[in-house]
Amino acid sequence: MTAKVSIIGAGMTGSTTAHWLAERELADIVLVDIVEGMPQGKALDLMEAMPVVGKDVTITGSNDFKATEGSDIIVITAGLPRKPGMSRDDLLKTNAEIVGKATTETLKYSPNAIYIILTNPLDTMAFLAMKIGKLPPNRVIGQAGILDSARMRTFVGMELGVSVENINCFVLGGHGDTMVPLTRHSNVAGVPLKDTMPAEKLNAIVERTRNGGGEIVSLLKSGSAYYAPSAAVAQMVEAILKDKQLIVPAAVFMQGEYGLKDIFFGAPVQLGRNGIEKIIEYDLNDEEKAALLRSAAAVQETTEALVKLVAI
Ligand code: APR
Repeated sequence: MTAKVSIIGAGMTGSTTAHWLAERELADIVLVDIVEGMPQGKALDLMEAMPVVGKDVTITGSNDFKATEGSDIIVITAGLPRKPGMSRDDLLKTNAEIVGKATTETLKYSPNAIYIILTNPLDTMAFLAMKIGKLPPNRVIGQAGILDSARMRTFVGMELGVSVENINCFVLGGHGDTMVPLTRHSNVAGVPLKDTMPAEKLNAIVERTRNGGGEIVSLLKSGSAYYAPSAAVAQMVEAILKDKQLIVPAAVFMQGEYGLKDIFFGAPVQLGRNGIEKIIEYDLNDEEKAALLRSAAAVQETTEALVKLVAI
């Protein structure tokens, strides 16, 4: 393969990302983790699955960042997962150190890579990666919007009994309890979402979407969601490597869009070979704008907390 994707953190999300990517035969894959033997073992196991699924990709595991040399995309999932009752923001300091190191170390070997950040709180971790790496904003993308929108699409599909392929939903804002599911911009095969079910049902879906991450954390008891987050990364990687110009929601550095500045925030973006090719601005009504501003305030607070904790 000519393309190379390195995944920092070979835990649940990292290794499942490798799985989705390998199945799509998109790139050679490197898994890096601090735990000795684990990334090597997972990489070899996955590589041994390739003859069965008929895909020619090389998957390597390592404890050394040098293995990531020449990557087109670096995915950072390294960090501590959220435990029940723990907010994403509790993880701030520890994960900032881990993500900071992962960014500086990988940049040494892949100075032109595009970064996809999953480690939570991801809006803030993406901000940190951009600042620490002195990266242009188009090369740092936080994964959240595809996941949050996919959760909403799942719940709509469960309610209506139609194919998830017919359901388009857009969830914007920070990846947290203040996220903004945009019902007015969502539809089922072109029919506005609000016309497909009673308002109470739709409100319940919006609420469940907002709590989507917490719902999985409570069920799992330890660890957090990984299948859907990693599937979202695979879609982003594919859009970038194939220069698809795919419009999806993702966390992106705001420079005046939606009236926001200097924070990473979930907005519709066009993904292509340069990473973020464009930020799309929806025409929002007053209620939607107010919800976005509330969400931005929450992200701003965590970003300010980070800036106090880490010298960036
Ligand atoms: N360098 C490399 N890997 C590290 C480092 C580091 N400095 N510190 C921790 N790790 C690794 C851990 O050893 C572990 O294998 O990161 C991995 C994290 O994997 P999991 O604990 O399985 O967590 P996961 O469910 O994958 O979530 C990772 O993504 O969705 C977010 O909130 C989630 O921030 C969390 C991240």
